[in-house]
Amino acid sequence: MARVTTIAHPNIALVKYWGKRDVPLNLPAVPSLSLTLGGWRSRTSVTWGAPADRVVLDGTERHDAKVLRFLDLVAPDRPPCEVVSDNDFPTGAGLASSASGFAALALAATRAAGLDLPLPALSALARQGSGSACRSLFGGYVRWPLGEAPDGSDCHAVPIAPADHWDLRMVVAVVASGPKAVGSTEGMERSRRTSPLWRTWVEHGPADVAEASAAIQQRDLERLGTVMEASTFRMHATMHTAVPPLLYWLPATVAALHEVFALRARGVGAWATMDAGPQVKVLCEPSDVAAVQEALKPTALQLHVHGPGGPARVVDDA
Ligand code: DP6
Repeated sequence: MARVTTIAHPNIALVKYWGKRDVPLNLPAVPSLSLTLGGWRSRTSVTWGAPADRVVLDGTERHDAKVLRFLDLVAPDRPPCEVVSDNDFPTGAGLASSASGFAALALAATRAAGLDLPLPALSALARQGSGSACRSLFGGYVRWPLGEAPDGSDCHAVPIAPADHWDLRMVVAVVASGPKAVGSTEGMERSRRTSPLWRTWVEHGPADVAEASAAIQQRDLERLGTVMEASTFRMHATMHTAVPPLLYWLPATVAALHEVFALRARGVGAWATMDAGPQVKVLCEPSDVAAVQEALKPTALQLHVHGPGGPARVVDDA
């Protein structure tokens, strides 16, 4: 019996992943690029060889078929396992909990099984739990290319700059609590099948990633913020034009967006991104955090400030 505990940080996409070319393997329709956030984390313990399969998430025991299926991917002939995981941030509210959760699980489960996978293989494995999880194995600025192999073996994330390359801030405005209405997998498929903007969305992905990569290399925030907002709004346009529509935004989301635009009109370098939920995340320099917080305070239930975070790691290996 081996028990391994790991932590992994969530990541926020600066250029979005939305849509799959292969659903079971989580092969993306578009490349993406993200920033791993310090501060928040998923902490996951896997016991390889337990009396029975058992999954405890945030203190509650549940039958989680996705987690058990993921363990089967690690080793089809595995023994019964125990997985205990918790997040120190709200789960399932568009705050990337599946990314950090499956990244932490991939590292903990493989190590507990006695495997020491190279990072590309570990990232490709995490991808099969949740697409965005492949990026959370790495710290800092991370790219997830399309890959070419039909089995997905070369479809894994690649770090492009470490956390200390560029000390940006992501101000997360939580404008509503509670789980999202439609999960990412279902939302992506609905957008792909029904949105007339789908083709345009997919066509822009590679150029957006190239533009964001160049902006990161040059530490050019205006350039990065501009392409980040463009990617976000194009992704949400595919959601809004799906049938039936997917509207993750609430009135407070729109209010927060207007505050960000007003900040920019006043010369503050702040740009917004949203995921499959109502929360607004604002990218800015550390010196502008106070102005961003002040502007968002009236519309947000909570404000959290994060800098770039490090890679997933083992914290206890019993
Ligand atoms: C909007 O990785 O949660 O946050 O692969 O179906 O598990 P699955 O989806 P998931 O999707 C994340 C989508 C997003 C954008 C992003 O993180 O790139």
